[in-house]
Amino acid sequence: MAETEPRTTDSVTMDKIVSLCRRRGFVFPSSEIYGGLGSAYDYGHYGVLAKNNVKARWLEAMVQERDDIVALDSSIILNPSVWEASGHLEGFSDPLVDCRTCKLRFRADKLEDAQCGRKPSKHPGETKDCDLTEPRQFNLMLSTKLGAVEDTGSTAYLRPETAQGIFVNFKNVLQLARRKPPFGIAQVGKSFRNEITPGNFLFRTREFEQMEMEYFVPPDEADEWYRYWIDQRFNWYTRYGLRENHLRVRPHDPDELSHYSSATSDIEYLFPIGWSELEGIANRGDFGLTQHTNHSATKLEYVDSATGERYTPHVIEPAGGADRALLAFLVDAYDEEIVADRQRTVLRLHPQIAPVKAAVLPLIGRHEQMVATARALYEELRRRHAVEYDDSGAIGRRYRRQDEIGTPFAFTIDEQTLEDDTVTIRDRDSLAQERLPLSSVAGYLDEALERPWKTPKPD
Ligand code: GAP
Repeated sequence: MAETEPRTTDSVTMDKIVSLCRRRGFVFPSSEIYGGLGSAYDYGHYGVLAKNNVKARWLEAMVQERDDIVALDSSIILNPSVWEASGHLEGFSDPLVDCRTCKLRFRADKLEDAQCGRKPSKHPGETKDCDLTEPRQFNLMLSTKLGAVEDTGSTAYLRPETAQGIFVNFKNVLQLARRKPPFGIAQVGKSFRNEITPGNFLFRTREFEQMEMEYFVPPDEADEWYRYWIDQRFNWYTRYGLRENHLRVRPHDPDELSHYSSATSDIEYLFPIGWSELEGIANRGDFGLTQHTNHSATKLEYVDSATGERYTPHVIEPAGGADRALLAFLVDAYDEEIVADRQRTVLRLHPQIAPVKAAVLPLIGRHEQMVATARALYEELRRRHAVEYDDSGAIGRRYRRQDEIGTPFAFTIDEQTLEDDTVTIRDRDSLAQERLPLSSVAGYLDEALERPWKTPKPD
């Protein structure tokens, strides 16, 4: 049953991630039986569990482990005036060019990253055959019609960020939770953007989930909190296993800043497509609250009832994406190695991100007593954790399957179990195996899942 020492052959590409996600039921192309829909994906069982873990760890760090942040779940469709006030109707756009020759559409500011539809031209505009139009601004918000009558009065927008739902609830939270800045409101939920150049699997899609927190602070503390949240968010990614040297903080140049931001830094991850944004931390000043105060005629400010002091708080916003974070965790976890002359593909996910925490495996799937003991252990463990029972096929194949979905531990029930009530525990990363009393497995697993974890992958 024991496996030999592994030899690593580190190589990860986006194609390998896409293929593993499909093969093991993490992520499927959406509406595939109708030919799919570009850059839209459906999450399968393990994808749902893993993405839920990403969101749960984020909420834990933002809300459960702190006293100064509360949770919110606002509507996806808001009063359209919200988007007028926020500046999204006016300014949430990308410059676009069309090519009259290849009929494709490109972002004017990203031509060097785009691929022309005709050969031999590589990038749009590179050869004289390319015939590009002048850039036009293209609004990224997806609109829809509300109600039965299709007139202009019923146009509404699917939110392009969750942040505005937070701003328009500022007064509710301030009053009901009796908050004093600094305090924050955290929200996880879907956002939608009519991206011109979606792609790279989960990295850029038109429908995605954001994890955003607006932190309201006294104006003269804004810079200090901006730096604080850059550190906090960087540390969250390393806490859940991303290699530190695959992460970096990149401050935006002045010409990159959004219309509302006075300073923004991206936490970038070294994806197979190169260094790319994982999350942005922005100093939004008082833009959001002031705009909504002006447009709604509701004063969104903090008033100290004891001193009478009043001010519009400034906002520091860490804004990440659940799908993009999951992609980074998958990329960082993907590993291939040779074990006993055979290739092993393994997802070295942090145990708290892994979709399944442990597998319970009877060594011989048709052995009545082994099956009964394994089922009893499985029933005990599943009350506390996401665990799997598997009795089909050769044990080596079952281990490999669990490796590919990133299950950190496997408990195997064998002949010795029936004699001395011990089980084998196999560690996904080291492949080490040891024996443990059956009665201590649940406690062992509880404790193992709480332990700090560091990837054995080289930096
Ligand atoms: N409220 C600020 C805001 O929305 P953003 O940088 O546009 O800022 C925040 O988005 C995060 O949301 C990004 O860092 C990324 O993780 C995620 N995100 C944005 N657009 C995305 C898309 N089209 N597909 C997947 N994730 C996206």
